[in-house]
Amino acid sequence: TVEVTVNPTALGFTAVAKNKNDVVTVPTGYTVQIGARLGDPITGSAAAYKNDGTDTGFANRIGDHGDALFWFGLSTTGTRDETSSTRGLIVQNHENINQQYLHTAGATSPGGVRPEAEALKEIECHGVSVVEYSEGASRAWTFSSTSTFNRRITPNTPMVFNGPVKGSDLIKTPYSPTGVAGRGTINNCANGYTPWGTLLTCEENWAGYFRRSGDNAARTAKELTALSRYGVTSSTGSYGWSTVVAADTANTTFRRWDARATGASALADYRNEPNQFGWVVEIDPYAPTSTPRKRTALGRLGHEGCWPGKFVAGTKPAWYMGDDSRREYLYKFVSNTAWVATDATATDRLAIGDKYLDAGTLYVAKFAADGTGSWIALVFGQNGITAASAVYPFADQADVLVNARLAADVVGATPMDRPEWTAVNPVTGEVYLTLTNNNAALRPLNGTDAANPRHYNDPYGTAGTAQYGNPNGHIIRIKETSTESLTFTWDIFAFGAGADLDATNINLSGLTADNDFSSPDGCWFGRATNASGLVKPIMWLQTDDGAYTDVTNCMMLAAQPGTVGDGGARTITNTGTGGATATQATRIGAAPGASLKRFLVGPVECEITGVDSTPDGRTLFVGIQHPGENGTPAAPSSHWPDSQATGTAGATIRPRSAIVIITKNDGGVVGL
Ligand code: FEO
Ligand code: CA
Ligand code: CA
Ligand code: CA
Repeated sequence: TVEVTVNPTALGFTAVAKNKNDVVTVPTGYTVQIGARLGDPITGSAAAYKNDGTDTGFANRIGDHGDALFWFGLSTTGTRDETSSTRGLIVQNHENINQQYLHTAGATSPGGVRPEAEALKEIECHGVSVVEYSEGASRAWTFSSTSTFNRRITPNTPMVFNGPVKGSDLIKTPYSPTGVAGRGTINNCANGYTPWGTLLTCEENWAGYFRRSGDNAARTAKELTALSRYGVTSSTGSYGWSTVVAADTANTTFRRWDARATGASALADYRNEPNQFGWVVEIDPYAPTSTPRKRTALGRLGHEGCWPGKFVAGTKPAWYMGDDSRREYLYKFVSNTAWVATDATATDRLAIGDKYLDAGTLYVAKFAADGTGSWIALVFGQNGITAASAVYPFADQADVLVNARLAADVVGATPMDRPEWTAVNPVTGEVYLTLTNNNAALRPLNGTDAANPRHYNDPYGTAGTAQYGNPNGHIIRIKETSTESLTFTWDIFAFGAGADLDATNINLSGLTADNDFSSPDGCWFGRATNASGLVKPIMWLQTDDGAYTDVTNCMMLAAQPGTVGDGGARTITNTGTGGATATQATRIGAAPGASLKRFLVGPVECEITGVDSTPDGRTLFVGIQHPGENGTPAAPSSHWPDSQATGTAGATIRPRSAIVIITKNDGGVVGL
């Protein structure tokens, strides 16, 4: 093991060039290993994955679209050990599916009645996986396909509701007439953690899975307002699962995806099924038979992530949450209970979750032009959130939490350019929020504000197609006195842009060929200290399919950011269609220069999402999501990870989402 400098001043690798190769590219001096992939058996009761569309039994396999992941250490005897860097559990979200590769010749009857077996496979490819990993000789990492910790959580896994919404009429369903339980979790995107050893998984774009059609007359005006605000408006549901009615006489697995108020027949009333989703869900990975708990005090959104601020004994802890849609908001939940450090080692972990996560205050962020901001409480009876609200007549706090977006509308929160991951600098406590992009339709030239300041046309993407708005996104950061603070200061850490774009008004962070990027999404700070004494953490930044995919595959960058206010005020000139211009004042952090470098480029048509390391920082785990997402079963557009070794693979080999394991050849900390 090489020594690393305490508080290192520079990233220690040569930037990777942008590229469109069908491999994961990392800097010279690093090695990529492939971890668990879509379909790999993990419970000892599934056959080897054939990857030809005939595989079944996905409740016993790795799901599709691996997303956020988190390392939970295990001792050599298989008990919780947060310091372990050689054996642990990786808990990963499975956000969505590449439907075409799951079936022999693509989906059967995609717009009609779906075959039961195909629909079940698609449902079970969603959710969360828990898999045990360990490091062997010569730094070779393997995962166990039979560990007793291994687990799949799917949209069918029983769960319970905790917090203020438990028992509310709004979540009563045929499955749980008393509104205390539900089934499963879906579209799990980013995540968060607790210091007591549990994972927080977040339900993001759940709304689209539901069919909702033809029942307006049976709905109240309130219900219709809420359904519209949350986008539960599909007339089919994403994959048509509710069409599998013939085989679903008990109305359990498939019919529930039709959120009809009353059917034409004796079909059960699933009007509240969409209210079962949009939550933060706590999972205890060390207790494989435990029932996950939906923490309703944190509100119902299109939850991207739920990252905690610094835990300080005697101070109420907070979790920061993006709501990923264009013009949605940034939230924070502050517990009612001040942090007691000894709770970190309690053994009834979900009971500790009850203590901190079931009672508290949900706030939404309002950004002011002068570089300050405030958190506005979403509490029934306060700030206009009442039965008399013209936006939506709230009944009680459960109604406020189920319809948190509407409460945030009432208080005048700041709409953002698609709030994705939150990350917290573990040294300074500053909170970073990726704003992946926005478009002219939802945020026109005159719709900018200081926190969402750019409007321009990006020449990349589909040739000849104008992309006005903020197609490359930015990363905003906030500084608070403590997690309990109701005010903050903010600036913009970096703006995405091609290095060749206008440096005065578009490439505002002075990005170069070594660090230019678009559509920031995943964001995570490495651990504050490790065995080598590292105290200045690296921030890892991951990109989603954006306006840059004609130039390069998606990527991951490393940064060593400064602090809020290290730059200053600035006024830029925006340009809209027809050459119209408008000025906008904003607050921009110091240009990152060489403290921001591209570390990794992924394979064709992937998104890079999900990152964690072992506590010593010497092994980095990264999620490669949906390679080849635009291909067909007959002609896949990526063959990764089979293509990793040579850049090519058989022309009909199907791509698979997978975890990559990255180590530095000299044994040191990844990135330094
Ligand atoms: Fe699932 Fe917001 O990305
Ligand atoms: Ca994401
Ligand atoms: Ca995204
Ligand atoms: Ca994507």
